[in-house]
Order: sequence, then C-alpha cells, then structure tokens
Amino acid sequence: MIPINRPILDKKEEEAVLNTLRSGELTNPTYQGGKNVAFAERALAEYLGVKHVVLVNSGTAALQAALLALDIGEGDEVLLPSFTFVATANAVLSVNAKPIFVDIRLDDYCIDPEDLERKITKRCKAVIPVHLYGYPANMQRILEVASKHNLFIIEDAAQSLGATYRSKQTGSFGDLGCFSFYPSKVITCGEGGAVATNSDELANRLRMLRNHGFDAGGLVKRMGLNLRLNEVSAAILSSQLKKLNYFLEQRRKNAEELSRMLDGCGAVLPSELEGRRSNWYLYTIRVMSRDKVLERLHKSEVGAAIYYKTPIHLYPHYHSLLGDVKLPNTEQAAAEVLSLPVHPALTKAELRHIAAAVKSALSK
Ligand SMILES: Cc1ncc(COP(=O)(O)O)c(C=O)c1O
Repeated sequence: MIPINRPILDKKEEEAVLNTLRSGELTNPTYQGGKNVAFAERALAEYLGVKHVVLVNSGTAALQAALLALDIGEGDEVLLPSFTFVATANAVLSVNAKPIFVDIRLDDYCIDPEDLERKITKRCKAVIPVHLYGYPANMQRILEVASKHNLFIIEDAAQSLGATYRSKQTGSFGDLGCFSFYPSKVITCGEGGAVATNSDELANRLRMLRNHGFDAGGLVKRMGLNLRLNEVSAAILSSQLKKLNYFLEQRRKNAEELSRMLDGCGAVLPSELEGRRSNWYLYTIRVMSRDKVLERLHKSEVGAAIYYKTPIHLYPHYHSLLGDVKLPNTEQAAAEVLSLPVHPALTKAELRHIAAAVKSALSK
C-alpha cells in the first residue's frame, strides 16, 4: 500500500539522536529548556519570521498551552471549525471553555469568516482558525473579524508548517500559532509541538506553563504542567528543519503533477486561491460515492484516506455536550473528501499509479 504520509529520516537524524544520547542530557527542566530545545526554537522562529517559539511535547499541548496562556477557561467560549482533527476541540474542553463550531467554506475547507461573525457571542474570547490540509485559511478576513470583536486568534497550524498567506507563514498571524510534529506531518520528531508568538509576555507565560509554572528565577508563579519536549526529539527536529524546504518543494512538484494527470477526471481538485500557498500536507479531492471510490483505491494499493469522516459536532461526546449544530458545508465535505498521497518519498511510477487508480475508480 502506498502510504498517505510517512516520516522521512536518515543518517542525519540517527547521528543527532546518538550525539544526544552520548551527551547524557535527555531533557532539561529549566525555564529556557535544554541546548537542543533552545537551538530548534531559534531555528523555527527564524523560519517562521516570529520573535519567539516555545517547543512543547505535542500539537495538542501547544493548543492547550496557548489557551492557558490567554487565561481562557470556565465561562469562556472559543470559536473553531468542526471540520478538523478532534484535538483542536479537545484542547478547548481541556481548559473548561465551551467550543462554538463554525462552518467552513468549500473552496478552502477552512473556517468561513461570515459564519464566524454570525456565531460570535458576548462570551467568545478567541477564535481558532485551522489551516486544514496545510492550506491557509482566509487570514485577512479572520483578522478583521477578530479585531472588530476583540477576539484572540490562536492559529491551529498543526498541519500547515511552511504554508504561506500573502507570503507570510501560517502560524505567524495570530496572537499564538500552534504546530505539530507528529510522524504524519511535513516534518516530525516523533511527538512534538510548538507555539509561535511575537509577544514577550505570552512567550514568558508559555515557558512557565511548559515547566510547572517556574519563572526564569526558579519560583513558581502560576499553574504549570510538564509540557516539555525532550532533548532527543529536539535534536531530530533541528535535523528535519534543515530538510523542510526540500520536502515542501517535492510535495509541491508531486501535487502539481497529480493535478496535471487528474485534470478532467470528474473530481473537484484542490487549487490555490490568490495569495495562498499550500504546504501540500494533504492533497484532497472531492468526489461523489466517496466510500466506494476509497474502497477501489485501497484495492489498488493506494493508501488514500479521509480527513475527516466525522465532523467533531457529530461525535457522541460533543453532541451530548452541545446538542444539534447545523453546519451544511462541513457535513458535505465530510461526506465527499478524499486525500491522496503526495509525500516526498513517492516515486514517479507511484504517482502515475495513484492517478491511474483514481481515474479508474471514478469511471466504474
Ligand atoms: C489540525 C490538528 N490540530 C491538532 C493536532 C494535534 O497534534 P498532536 O497530534 O501533535 O497532538 C493535529 C495533529 O494530529 C492536527 O492535525
């Protein structure tokens, strides 16, 4: 089966891991973090064009830390799409805030700024736009709505490292931007996450939140957790960061080649609106009879996958908390989307095989 995504690691990561193991410093419970953590934070901040990056041990931890840093909690509401990985909403529940689900647009699968404005209540403190599939949400409109209604913006850029909106990196627009380095992502360190911000104050809070509330002087100044990234993972991350641009070029080439081969096949193909550049984390098409098409692709050894078959508002846990929510575009997308592999490890022959399999699956 051609996998939808897979981590690409080589001798560089092996060396980085061995060097760290031999150094004996596997983690560092200080405000600044260990040498590898600090090094990767600087490299990522430079790449993103932001003042601070604070590494944590997952994308979920990044979202939780972001919400806690903004003092969002009981009695607050947070706007977010339902068409995302459940971690986005779980992070909101984890701080005892209430998720308010907003519909998406079908031309970018991201939060619909018009529906966002309609859903705002007096209790709304923040919005979490998700750059789904590595495709940038409409940040200009989201920034306008957030500023008009005094909302914080926490970007969920878990999938979108390297994607840009008007030449600026996703994750660098909001008050805080959250990233994931889970193995399926464009770069990985096993488990890991990051929060990007231009605010000194928020960066300080994040560093305390990551490490039991200790401030730079070693005093506990607020509630904190253990959200630290270990030194072995940070070493892998620095090595992966050096390859990021190459990985993104390969993904783009594969996506463009796939679009060329699938032109006119009857599926709705992904495209880039003006000013928005995807990182091609996922190449997502929309088709009728999606589940049958998926079955045929699996029979042809193409590891196509559905992100996401169940929108969060329809999961029993969320439904019992929030009751019926109507999100027509979300439900349509959930019934029709299908993602195809475009990761950098694909061979030309595999790409041709994927395109042929899609055309054949659609013509039956
Ligand atoms: C959109 C989105 N948000 C949040 C997360 C959570 O990241 P992690 O798996 O690193 O906790 C993921 C990743 O899986 C994701 O895709």
